[in-house]
Amino acid sequence: MTTTGRKLRLGALGRLLLLAPAVACGVAAGQAFAQEVLRGHGGPVRALAVQAQGRTLVSGSFDSSVIVWDLKANAAQRVLRFHQGAVNAVAILPDGCFASGGEDKRIAVWCANADVPVRVLEGHEAPVTSLAAANGVLVSASFDGTVRQWNPSGGGTSQIVHRHMGAAMAVTISFGTNVVVSAGSDVALLRGSEPAPLRLQWTAPATVLATLPNGDVVAASADGHVRIVSADMLVVTEFAVDRIPIASLAVSPDGRLIAAAGLRGGIAIIDRAQAKIVHRLTGPGLPVWSLAFDGDSRTLISGGADRVIRRWDAVAGKPLTSTLPERDVVAEAAASGERGAVVFRACQACHTLSPDDGNRAGPTLYGVFGRRIGTAPGYAYSEALPRMSIVWSRDTIARLFEIGPNAYTPGTRMPEQTINDPADRQALVEWLERVTGAR
Ligand code: HEC
Repeated sequence: MTTTGRKLRLGALGRLLLLAPAVACGVAAGQAFAQEVLRGHGGPVRALAVQAQGRTLVSGSFDSSVIVWDLKANAAQRVLRFHQGAVNAVAILPDGCFASGGEDKRIAVWCANADVPVRVLEGHEAPVTSLAAANGVLVSASFDGTVRQWNPSGGGTSQIVHRHMGAAMAVTISFGTNVVVSAGSDVALLRGSEPAPLRLQWTAPATVLATLPNGDVVAASADGHVRIVSADMLVVTEFAVDRIPIASLAVSPDGRLIAAAGLRGGIAIIDRAQAKIVHRLTGPGLPVWSLAFDGDSRTLISGGADRVIRRWDAVAGKPLTSTLPERDVVAEAAASGERGAVVFRACQACHTLSPDDGNRAGPTLYGVFGRRIGTAPGYAYSEALPRMSIVWSRDTIARLFEIGPNAYTPGTRMPEQTINDPADRQALVEWLERVTGAR
C-alpha cells in the first residue's frame, strides 16, 4: 500500500485541544484506585466501543491509531495503524470483529487478531464522522452528506440510506428493527430510509446519536441539550446538559442511564427513571471526546483530550481510576518558553521522547541522535526507511523538515510536513537533543 503524500489532518479544534494543558482537579494526591487509566494514545481519544461482554475495549484517536484494550488486564492488546488521519468512529460487529472510520474517508473492518483490516470499505467522499452497527448491518455517516449502509461481511458495497444537505454528523441504528436514524449539519434528523425517510427539523444540529432499547433515539446537540425522540419523531424528553456543544454520548445497555459530555464541564449522568441529571462527573482530561458503557450498565468509560481512558462508577457518580491530571512534559516545557518544545507539539501525537513511553503511531525518538534511520527497537517501519543509510543528527533531522519527509525519505509513512522557519528547525533539534537522552 502506498501512503505517501498524505497530510496530517487534525481539525483546527483537534489541534487546539491537543495543545490544551491538562486541567487540574480537586482530588487529593495519593488516593488509591483499583485500576490505572489506560495510556497509549498519542492524541485525544475520539471514539470508544466495548466488545465481548466488556472484556475488550476498542478506542480510536486523533493520533490515527485504533487500540484494542484488555479491560481485565488493564493493558493494550493491539495497536492498529491503518487510517491516514484521525479515527472518528468505531463500532462493534458480530464474531469478534469491529469497524473503524476515519478522516481518510475509509472504513476498516478488523477481525480476530489480525493487525491489517480484513476489509476496507470505500465509497465516502469525505471524512467518516460516525458509525453504528446492529444485526450484522453497519451504517456510516460522512461529511459528504450521505449515510451509507454496508454489508461488512459481503462484497464491501454500500447503499445510500440518507442524504443530508451538508455534513452527516451522527448515525445510529435500532437493535430490534434495523431502522437507521441520522443527523446532519442541515439541522435535520432523518429516520427510516430513502426515498422518503421521516424528517424532524431540529433546533440545533445533533452531534451524537444513540438508540434506547425501546427504539427511541437519544440525540445530543450543539445547543448542549440531550433529547429523547420517539419512533414517530416527537421529542419526548429534553435535558439541558450544557450551554456548549455536546461531543459524546452513551446509553447503558439496560437503557437506564444516559451519559453525555460537553466540550467542557464534565460528564452528566441522566437517570431515565428519575428524568433528571443525577451526577456530574468532573476530572482532568476535559473535554471528554468519547463515552461508552461497560456491559454491567454501571461502569462508564471516557476518552479525553489528555489522551488517556478513564473509568467511572456511573451509578455512584465516582471515579474508578485516578483523577490526577496527566503530566505533559512537552506542554510544560512549551509553557516555560522553550521554543523547541512549542515546535515539537506538532510531533507529539506520534512520537514519544522518554524510554518509558514507547512507540506511538511513529517510533520513539528516545535515543534518536546517532541512531540509524529505521532502527528503533520494536517499531514496524515502512519498507522504505530501513533501506536508507541516514544517521539522525541535528543536521539530518533539520533537513528532514526543511524539505519534508517525502523528499528526504521517499516512501515514508510519516505525513508530509515542513518547518519553514530555520530558527524553528534549529530550536527543535537542539531541544530534541537535550530531551531524547543524547550523550
Ligand atoms: C501523524 C504522525 C506523525 C507526526 C505528526 C510526526 N511523525 Fe515522525 N514519523 C511518523 C511515522 C509513522 C514514522 C515512521 C515512518 C516509516 O516507517 O516510514 C516517523 C518517523 C520519524 C523519524 C525517523 C525515525 C527513525 O527511527 O528513523 C523522525 C526523526 C521523525 N519521525 C521525527 C518527527 C518530528 C521531529 C516530527 C514533528 C516535526 C514528526 N516526526 C511528526 C509519524 C509522525
